Amino acid sequence: MSASDDVSAPEDWDAGQYARHARFVPELARSLVDWLAPEAGERILDLGCGDGVLTQAIAARGARVLGVDRSPAFVTAARDRGVEAIVGDGHELQYEQCFDAVFSNAALHWMITDPQAVIRGVARALRTGGRFVAEFGGEGNIAPIHAALRDEAAARGRDPDQLDPWYFPSLETYMDQLESGGFSIVRKECFERPTPLPGDVSNWLQTLAGPFLQAFEVGTAREAYVAAVRARLIPELCDNSGQWIAPYVRLRFEARKN
Ligand code: BEZ
Repeated sequence: MSASDDVSAPEDWDAGQYARHARFVPELARSLVDWLAPEAGERILDLGCGDGVLTQAIAARGARVLGVDRSPAFVTAARDRGVEAIVGDGHELQYEQCFDAVFSNAALHWMITDPQAVIRGVARALRTGGRFVAEFGGEGNIAPIHAALRDEAAARGRDPDQLDPWYFPSLETYMDQLESGGFSIVRKECFERPTPLPGDVSNWLQTLAGPFLQAFEVGTAREAYVAAVRARLIPELCDNSGQWIAPYVRLRFEARKN
C-alpha cells in the first residue's frame, strides 16, 4: 500500500514494494499452477491476479488467461509482464459461462464482504464442469501477526473489526460454502507453511497489512504502531539469528462446477 495522510481513503497497493518484500507469495504457490493443469487454448480467469507472476506462468502453458484485480497498480504491473489484466472486484464478476477454469492465489481472504457472492460469481463465470482451483489463508493463518495487529489497534482506540481486511475460514466451512454454491470438491488440503520472510517483519507489515496501518497517520503514529506490533512478535516469530518466520496456513482446493 502506498502512504497517504488520509486514513479514510482506500489506498492502492505499491507494486514495487510488493515485488521487493512479498515475491514469495506467488513463488511459494507455483505448485498450484500444477493443480490447475492449464491446457493450451483453455480460457482461464486469474481472480486476484496481483502483479501477474502466476498469470504469466499460466499463459506460458498456452492457456488464454485474463487477470482480474481490484488494484489498478497491480493490473498495470501485470500488463507490464505482457498478460491481459483488468481492474475488477471479485464480488462483482460479470462473466457468464465463458471460462474453463478459475484460478486464485492468496486473494480470496481479501474478499470479505460476502465470500458466498464471490463463489456465486465464479460459478457463473465457469462452464459446466469447469474447475475452480485456489489457495488462500485458512483458519489460524498468520495468527500471532493477526492478533498483534488487532490488539495493538484496539490499545490505540481503534475498532479492530472495522479495520480487519481478512477472512481465514476453516477447510470445512469453505468446502460447505463451495458445495452450497454449486461445486463438487475434487481435492482439498489445509496445511501449515511456516514461511521465512525475506527481511524484517516490519516490511511484511508495511507491504501486506495496509488496512490496519492506514488507521494511523503516516509518521510517528504509524511508526509507533508498527514498532509495537513488531515488539510483540519477536519472541514467537524471530529466531536467534534474526530470521523472521511467518506462520502461514494454506487452504487449497480443486472444485468442479456441477
Ligand atoms: C496470505 O497470503 O495468507 C496473506 C497475505 C497478506 C496478508 C495476510 C495474509
